[in-house]
Amino acid sequence: MNPLNHVAIIMDGNGRWGLRNKNSRNAGHKAGLNTVEKIIKETIKNKIKFLTLYAFSTENWKRPKKEIKFLFSLLETFLKEKINDLNEQNIKLKIIGKKNFTLNLNKLLKLSEKKTFKNKRLQINLALNYGSKSELINAFKELKKNKEAINEKNLKKYLQTKNIPDPDILIRTGNTKRLSNFLLWQIAYSEIFFENKLWPDFNEKDYNKIIKKFKGIKRNFGKI
Ligand code: IPE
Ligand code: IPE
Ligand code: MG
Repeated sequence: MNPLNHVAIIMDGNGRWGLRNKNSRNAGHKAGLNTVEKIIKETIKNKIKFLTLYAFSTENWKRPKKEIKFLFSLLETFLKEKINDLNEQNIKLKIIGKKNFTLNLNKLLKLSEKKTFKNKRLQINLALNYGSKSELINAFKELKKNKEAINEKNLKKYLQTKNIPDPDILIRTGNTKRLSNFLLWQIAYSEIFFENKLWPDFNEKDYNKIIKKFKGIKRNFGKI
């Protein structure tokens, strides 16, 4: 059976779910938070050490201002309400992506990271204002600045996922088969699962089905 250390998820389909069920995209974003909580619980049950959640891409700034504002207010409320609980559950929160939001949100994110820094049970990497291309360009710039050789070991040091093992599983919900600038380097050998369900409809059963399937896959990494 394959060891499973890291699951990464592109949580897609909130907007469509909201429009279909409540006539509002934002209602879908709110409903998506319930799925986040369910999946965190299930990740712990499965003793998986790393969970990376794509919450906002560098390209998502192209959305209407009102939706962006709603998304960040949702995040702010969620963190304020839940960070102590996450901390008590021994969960570490790390933000990947550039923290250039409002002063208040930047502060809250930093504080949440600091508070949970030593926790060991599960590390949640929240991808916020994250884009793989800009992450890679930044890493190459660092290599150049420090006059370091361009090789895998050196490059990895400058990725935002340094010290995090590559994802074993990548899941994208929402019936769309694309990567949308997510962890392009890190998923070189991930097993990819495209799920038809929209994120608010995705549940523990769907998640465990994927995990079970993953465990039975023959991973070659180039060997036979
Ligand atoms: C994903 O859901 C969440 C974010 C990008 C914030 P979407 O908002 O992309 O939902 P759809 O794809 O429009 O249904
Ligand atoms: C990817 O979803 C980003 C997140 C889930 C945060 P999008 O819905 O933004 O992706 P595209 O634009 O349809 O490719
Ligand atoms: Mg989408």
